[in-house]
Amino acid sequence: MAIKSLEQPAAAVSLSRIAVSDTHGEDSPYFAGWKAYDENPYHESSNPSGVIQMGLAENQVSFDLLEKYLEKNSSDATSSGRASSFKENALFQDYHGLLSFRKAMASFMGQIRGGRAKFDPERIVITAGATAANELLTFILADPGDALLVPTPYYPGFDRDLRWRTGVNIVPIHCDSSNSFEITPAALESAYEDAESRGLRVRGVLITNPSNPLGATVKRAVLEQVLDFASRRNIHLVSDEIYSGSAFSDGEFVSIAEILEGRSDGERERCHIVYSLSKDLGLPGFRVGTIYSYNDAVVTTARRMSSFTLISSQTQQLLASMLSDEEFTAAYIKTNRERLRRRYGMIVEGLGRAGIECLSGNAGLFCWMNLSPLLKEASVEEELGLWNCILHQVRLNISPGVSCHCREPGWFRVCFANMSEHTLQVALARIHHFVETTRSAHHQ
Ligand SMILES: Cc1ncc(COP(=O)(O)O)c(C=O)c1O
Repeated sequence: MAIKSLEQPAAAVSLSRIAVSDTHGEDSPYFAGWKAYDENPYHESSNPSGVIQMGLAENQVSFDLLEKYLEKNSSDATSSGRASSFKENALFQDYHGLLSFRKAMASFMGQIRGGRAKFDPERIVITAGATAANELLTFILADPGDALLVPTPYYPGFDRDLRWRTGVNIVPIHCDSSNSFEITPAALESAYEDAESRGLRVRGVLITNPSNPLGATVKRAVLEQVLDFASRRNIHLVSDEIYSGSAFSDGEFVSIAEILEGRSDGERERCHIVYSLSKDLGLPGFRVGTIYSYNDAVVTTARRMSSFTLISSQTQQLLASMLSDEEFTAAYIKTNRERLRRRYGMIVEGLGRAGIECLSGNAGLFCWMNLSPLLKEASVEEELGLWNCILHQVRLNISPGVSCHCREPGWFRVCFANMSEHTLQVALARIHHFVETTRSAHHQ
């Protein structure tokens, strides 16, 4: 029997308010684009005129390195060389997670920050990806009806992760192109006041660093301003650092953990870091995430709640072995960065040849592209019209700024690390052709 959508006429048996609410955000163009791709996916030889998926922040550029490592070490990594390991793994269900895994994760998180911050394995709470980590933290920091402040443009999945099941509101901190979408003290204060005027109690601010969708790291001075704002307003600060290993050069990414090294316990206790291996190692299917909190009560509660979203012991064991091989991880981090930088260079150069500008980036799996010169007027309708045309005529799935709650029409997120270099060149050729024909049509 085919599954009906919730929009179809209601069945006789009703469902919960959460089940029927639309705060999951899945009706946004971000998800609609994925559907168009699924119906007609591009393939180099079997479907060369299909839709190219540029809406998925997936890192496939370093897969060969992981495969080579696992081929060479798979028996060590999965069994630790002991016959009893299968039984141990099968019965392991402690929600603290394997100590070997937490130690390896803590050391990897330090390594990815160039050793400039240290992580205590006792503060690592394991979760099924950053999705679960962000929701779990929201459950702990805020009550239904409260608000979290989030800078725009932001990752469209936050509408689901932070709001849907928790009943918490997102109040946008509006950022714009006049200062490269940087968060400013005025924008923070204005979002706080906006929430207050709507009768919402603000419980925290959540930033993504490096930013999705901007593809840029958050500067040290901006991080300090956000932390000072959180202290002044006595609210939490969550830093989603899932893209930390994607900063193209070591030292360009500054973690909130580095800032906190010199701060008081009071300031540390309001800070929580979300991390996962979905982007840096390109393993979203493994569902490996963590919450790292400087607040003891948050660590204890998050650990209890993590029972709902644990990582299988087999995955923990496999990754504990890989992440604690520092020679491998150091080489991986370096090569992965170089490859991402090369891809970024390719896309920015290709778009530049078509006369398209991007925000200057230094991290991430995407760039933030400015197509506003192609709009007839600066409106959301025009942006969505252009997006629709690019999706169905040019057959590229890119994400319109409005799906990231960007207030300025004409910006789009374009992913470049989930495809081969050849596919990227095909996509760039299609955009080039489209821009040329659109511009000449405008001039006629
Ligand atoms: C900023 C951000 N946070 C969280 C996630 C979810 O990551 P995960 O696959 O680890 O659940 C994503 C995925 O795109 C993301 O971009």
